[in-house]
Amino acid sequence: MAVERKYELYTHEAKTNAYELFAKMRQDDPVHCQPGIDGETMIWFVTSYDEVEQVLRDDKHFVREARNALPPEQVYQPSPLEAMMSDHMLNKDWDDHRRLRTLVSQAFTPRRVQALRPRIQAIANALLDDVASQGQMDLIADYSFHLPTIVIAEMLGIPVEDRDKFKVWSNAALTPSLDDESLAEFMQLMQAFMAYLNNLFEQRRETPGDDLLSALLQAEADGDSFSQSELFAMLFLLIIAGHETTVSLIANAMVALWQHPDQLDLLKKEPGLMKTAVEEFLRYDNSVERAFNRWVAEDVTLGDQFLPKGSLVIPILAAANHDPEKFSDPEKLDVTREANPHLSFGKGAHYCLGAPLARLETEIALNTLLERLPNIQMSIPFSELRWRFSPGFRTLEALPVQWKLPV
Ligand code: HEM
Repeated sequence: MAVERKYELYTHEAKTNAYELFAKMRQDDPVHCQPGIDGETMIWFVTSYDEVEQVLRDDKHFVREARNALPPEQVYQPSPLEAMMSDHMLNKDWDDHRRLRTLVSQAFTPRRVQALRPRIQAIANALLDDVASQGQMDLIADYSFHLPTIVIAEMLGIPVEDRDKFKVWSNAALTPSLDDESLAEFMQLMQAFMAYLNNLFEQRRETPGDDLLSALLQAEADGDSFSQSELFAMLFLLIIAGHETTVSLIANAMVALWQHPDQLDLLKKEPGLMKTAVEEFLRYDNSVERAFNRWVAEDVTLGDQFLPKGSLVIPILAAANHDPEKFSDPEKLDVTREANPHLSFGKGAHYCLGAPLARLETEIALNTLLERLPNIQMSIPFSELRWRFSPGFRTLEALPVQWKLPV
């Protein structure tokens, strides 16, 4: 028999009023079990800061791989294509996770990422050169989408001009397929993505470049215990992770500033505040609403609930980031907020590998926008903003904006 959900998490309304809903959950049921998106699978949703942090930190009790928590006969056997897409570090525990993360972590250290600053700045300038004389644009489609996608394409060594294809593939990867038709469409798109990557691998094997993909192919050739499917999945993860997340954080940050004109004025007057401001945008309305689900590997107590081995858990980062027990005045955007231990990049073993890159891209994107187009405004009222149907993410469909041209 279907069990009713106490909290409706999968509607447009839930996205629009997300923080009110999370506040209610955190106050009344900080660790709460109800059916997930399929209406059947029971999932523990966690909304209080301390418990979200506990789940992310404790990778002995909370694991990513079902096989580390369930008896073999209950573990879902993926199709070869699904296996190919999911064989990446974010889906691995312990030694396998460390091995895969080590292969690419050098490319994402804060020092390596800072070296990209002039190039990221040049991309931001060029993007605004293209639109400045129009007086209007869709901030997402014409600006925030291009910046991180060009950067990751260049880092990986994939042709920048193919990024519209990646947009389709990454949208598909982050939108749940709830019926047979959308599942078939999704599989078709993923097959095309895999074929594209296969082709690219061949080209890079023949003509290696000074890029991350060539380095990974070399590691594979050197027999660094790195399988073909792990290579596919690694590329898949890096492309997808670099697409929706920073793109939407930049857009959400601008909306937050327009909702708080005093903070916008302050930031324009003191651009040096942008570093603390970026942390506050991450806390206030992050693009990644939830961490990925964890399986309970051994019986555990979370808050005042007992979770038996084999349970499924989803930590809601956005809820933890507004927990009044941790943040003073959490519903207020404060670009000068000093202590800001938000969980927007996760915590523990799976802490976001791309965090230094995401921070730098957001800082440059916003500074450049406010400097070049200081009177930029939204062209629609807040009530017309539409959120994409993507449970784990907070991404707007579009963000129409306008600015005055010099006369
Ligand atoms: C605002 C931008 C971003 C946000 C908010 C974000 C957030 C996150 C979060 C919350 C996790 C952990 C998920 C979990 O534990 O379930 C994660 C993991 C990860 N992120 Fe990001 N991310 C962003 C940008 C990026 C970028 C630009 C890249 C790289 C190109 C990236 C690469 C990764 C990778 C590889 C992992 C998996 C790490 C592991 O399993 O060890 N992310 N990210």
